[in-house]
Amino acid sequence: ALTVKERIDHKRKTALCGGGQHRIDAQHKKGKLTARERVELLLDPESFVESDMFVEHRCSDFGMEQDGNKFPGDSVVTGRGRINGRLVYVFSQDFTVFGGSLSGAHAQKICKIMDQAMTVGAPVIGLNDSGGARIQEGVESLAGYADIFLRNVLASGVVPQISLIMGPCAGGAVYSPALTDFTFMVKDTSYLFITGPDVVKSVTNEDVTQEELGGAKTHTTVSGVAHRAFEDDVEALLNVREFFNFLPLSNQDPAPIRECHDRSDRLVHSLDTIVPSETTKAYDMLDIVHATVDESDFFEIMPNYAKNIVVGFARMNGRTVGIVGNQPKVASGCLDINSSVKGARFVRFCDAFNIPLITFVDVPGFLPGTAQEYGGIIRHGAKLLYAFAEATVPKITVITRKAYGGAYDVMSSKHLRGDVNYAWPTAEVAVMGAKGAVQIIFRGKENQAEAEAEYVEKFANPFPAALRGFVDDIIEPSTTRKRIIRDLEVLASKKQQNPWKKHANIPL
Ligand code: COA
Repeated sequence: ALTVKERIDHKRKTALCGGGQHRIDAQHKKGKLTARERVELLLDPESFVESDMFVEHRCSDFGMEQDGNKFPGDSVVTGRGRINGRLVYVFSQDFTVFGGSLSGAHAQKICKIMDQAMTVGAPVIGLNDSGGARIQEGVESLAGYADIFLRNVLASGVVPQISLIMGPCAGGAVYSPALTDFTFMVKDTSYLFITGPDVVKSVTNEDVTQEELGGAKTHTTVSGVAHRAFEDDVEALLNVREFFNFLPLSNQDPAPIRECHDRSDRLVHSLDTIVPSETTKAYDMLDIVHATVDESDFFEIMPNYAKNIVVGFARMNGRTVGIVGNQPKVASGCLDINSSVKGARFVRFCDAFNIPLITFVDVPGFLPGTAQEYGGIIRHGAKLLYAFAEATVPKITVITRKAYGGAYDVMSSKHLRGDVNYAWPTAEVAVMGAKGAVQIIFRGKENQAEAEAEYVEKFANPFPAALRGFVDDIIEPSTTRKRIIRDLEVLASKKQQNPWKKHANIPL
């Protein structure tokens, strides 16, 4: 018989091998890393501190109690570690053990690290690769999912939660990633869906592949379920490390400040000429963002979904900021259902985690049409308005060109407690564009062209807003970076509170 020490060593060794070499080989053959390899790549070297390596499933049905069906650690690797020296909790589902399926024990392990993350105030990163509920365990595994969901909800807005989908994630399993702040996918090897292609076929008679139904492309371009897609496991994990550097550890911590090699008083001359003189001509808002932020380093969220709005993280003089910008290149930068929801969720994340918001405005209004009205643009547009209005983090707004109609109000305007609101000389703050306006107020009258010119002279410029103090200053575009950085320094001590409430009731 083995001594206790020998048994401990044996269990540890076995745990490191997951479901055995042939299953590890199968995992590699699919182009996927193992659960442990992923953890190693995600975390700083030697920083991983594992917990529950000895936990085993407790199922005794279908022969599961037999020796060959027990794996120390079961089908998930859990613990804590560091990313660039900063604490993070991690779980990594091990597809080589029962297809990474979720047993009661597996769920308990995840819950334990989530509870610890909440106790000390540190983010949770989940690496998902699982065949779903452990079929042999029945309701035990369903209970396990719910235990995780509850923790996802309670942790929401307290510690950042990030999901990486690196294999299958189907059925009930999808709701944990859906509840987290950010979901990233790996192209070609990951998919997310409520029911797979076979069930879809039998219920709706649709023929669809796994990839079409729930692959990375679908979720980052069509459904908006996932926020970024990466080429492979390695690229995904390295990007999460980069992304992590932008985030505070919890809602009690300030956003991190990184040493900055980009001068805070750098003038950005390209901005003086970036807005075309013809007001209907497009330009790329990303050019403005890249030119303004530290070292052009912008981590865009949902770059391929609702591209008429741009959102993402950057730094200004080393401080993390959230960037929101209308994109004149796509649908003239109109707000619509998808861009409103995309923007709102981003703004709320930043507000929950003390990340100042910089908003670049060039918006001709909300997108008209039955598709939008029937889809509930009123309800969805209200989300973005709501999010900006309730946000108490520092809010700096730059109107680069159009700020028309209700969309002007929505885009972090002075009226929604914008702290600093700037207009560039090219700004036009008005109820609508000159042509439409003249058609309405001078309907059927002669001299439309003259009326239009008068309207442009009166309204299509920054003065009406500046005269009333709705913008604080009209600035040379080249000074934008310098001004924003100076403002952020002052606003670092901003304190603002919303009235007490149990929770708000954002229009959903
Ligand atoms: N419960 C228990 N074991 C599971 C499982 C589950 N939910 N999902 C997969 N496994 C096991 C398989 O039995 C297989 O075991 P084996 O190697 O001893 O034969 C192993 O995990 C690998 O699964 P396999 O089906 O060979 O992998 P695949 O890459 O071909 O397919 C899935 C992966 C996820 C598509 C497929 O396993 C599947 O459809 N699983 C069930 C999904 C589901 O409906 N879950 C319940 C809904 S919440």
